[in-house]
Amino acid sequence: MKKNLIALLSISLIAMATTTMAAGDPIAGKYKFKVTCVGCHGSNAEGMVGPKLAGQPAKEIVRKLTEYRAGKQRGPMTSMMAPMAQGLTETEVHNLAAYVSGL
Ligand code: HEC
Repeated sequence: MKKNLIALLSISLIAMATTTMAAGDPIAGKYKFKVTCVGCHGSNAEGMVGPKLAGQPAKEIVRKLTEYRAGKQRGPMTSMMAPMAQGLTETEVHNLAAYVSGL
């Protein structure tokens, strides 16, 4: 009985973890955004020093952040953004994308 319960719990935890990885967790993304990105992208990702991110499709945000992480030159101010992206984990990229795309 107890064993079954533990098995069931592990399965749901794994399911939760994989869902988060695939779709991103907008709540975790919001937290990370407020702490790390608002200074340059504005408190609602409306754009300031950096471009507007609000409303961009999550897939686009993930693609752009992945390019910065890989060290690719994107715009004229890539040197400002690249270290930011390089400090993010894969999960954080997806969480941030889920958050800003919903703004
Ligand atoms: C020090 C200021 C600064 C911080 C902090 C910063 N960014 Fe940026 N970001 C920029 C600038 C400047 C650009 C444009 C860079 C270029 O010319 O390639 C940019 C570009 C981007 C782009 C590409 C936008 C587009 O449409 O091309 C994304 C996505 C992005 N930032 C996400 C983030 C996220 C998420 C965070 C927080 C983890 C963050 N940025 C933190 C300055 C910043």
